[in-house]
Amino acid sequence: MLQRPRGTRDFLPHEMEARSEVEGRMREAARRFGYGQVRTPAFEELELFTLRSGPGIVNEMYSFEDKGGRALALRPELTAPALRLFVNEARVLPKPLRWYYVDDCFRYERPQKGRYRQFWQFGAELIGADSAAADAEAVLLADAALRAAGLDYEMKVGHLALLRSLLADLDEGARRNVMALLDKREMDALGGALDALGRGDLLGPLRELVSATTLDEAFGVTGSLPGEGRLRATAGLLEAAGLDFSFNFGIVRGLDYYTGMVFEGFAANLGAENQVVGGGAYRLAHLFGGEDTPSVGFAIGFDRVMVALGEVPVPRRTVVAVLSTAEGLEDAFRAAAALRGAGLRAELDLSGRGLGAQMTRAAKGADFAVLIGAREASAGVVGFKNLATGIQETLPLEEAVARAAGREVSAAADR
Ligand code: HAM
Repeated sequence: MLQRPRGTRDFLPHEMEARSEVEGRMREAARRFGYGQVRTPAFEELELFTLRSGPGIVNEMYSFEDKGGRALALRPELTAPALRLFVNEARVLPKPLRWYYVDDCFRYERPQKGRYRQFWQFGAELIGADSAAADAEAVLLADAALRAAGLDYEMKVGHLALLRSLLADLDEGARRNVMALLDKREMDALGGALDALGRGDLLGPLRELVSATTLDEAFGVTGSLPGEGRLRATAGLLEAAGLDFSFNFGIVRGLDYYTGMVFEGFAANLGAENQVVGGGAYRLAHLFGGEDTPSVGFAIGFDRVMVALGEVPVPRRTVVAVLSTAEGLEDAFRAAAALRGAGLRAELDLSGRGLGAQMTRAAKGADFAVLIGAREASAGVVGFKNLATGIQETLPLEEAVARAAGREVSAAADR
């Protein structure tokens, strides 16, 4: 038997219903903030992702050469594609642009719970805005989408300037290594790495910075920095909007394009892969041939949200089972069309078994049964059974449809 590739999943109809329900709630949050959806190709030129995304992503990429010899990659994320789209087609539009997306991404990672090789992101990019207000809006939309989904999680806000200022005189490779260890909170390994660099003196301030819980404590470690005023203003706006968040100056983000404020959200019940959202302020447009355009955005790990939510109650439509004998089949198709026309879910029994067996099956999942045997067909009526009460009547089709739809037919009163 052939199996799906490692790190991918299949979704059955009940799972897709739950996913569509949650996706719909997130889309609605984006709409309420004035964001419009964009969609980009599933694969792009490899270079789009190697320019600034950083080695973490590049090493995990599904890259390939096509038959024309072009170097391509399946998208590992959607920020670079969105900014490429902006530079290609939307540069002249009035800014800021408010875009959101829900699409799949591909990363060759070691699969585990909450970590897949094909996964979906719900994300947003606010392009061409450069202010505390823009930073705050991105955090608030991420929060609104997660809350709308029904998730309880913790939002953490940080800023890259602080860590970068402490690590300013390390070379690029050393800084990356230190930041990766900090990201994983491997403080012992960090101490060892700093000693090896002859910079054991940095361990104390780094520890202090990553455990700081207020802006005063954090800037107390680094001294005042450019970006401090904006971060304080962002925090003020988040508080004014009533957001429940805390600071974390150890957030380093796995991608290289961030320039200032960064944020991450964590759900409690996910184990190791508990980061459900990541984002921040960044610049990418100038690398893709556009003007330097400050932007801010985030992506939610949609699959992790689904794992964290567990069972998602989905609003259920009324189900009408349409049962018939061979003589009633044409009328059954007419009845099903009328029921669907009224917005109901009508399911024809295709088994070819007797009406009794069809009814037993209908009783397992449907709310009503519409039944058409030879007698009903010749009389131009239908049997209508309320499967909750067990009451069965003989009715004109239009009245059966109205009953199932929860409406009374005015003509019925006249008879
Ligand atoms: P990221 O942190 O790489 O950021 O990914 C965002 C989210 O995608 C993560 O927080 C996580 O929930 C989810 N995720 C990442 N990898 C996997 C995986 N293998 N399986 C399941 N879920 C995963 C970005 O991608 C940036 N483009 C976010 C952004 C948008 N920054 C600015 N704008």
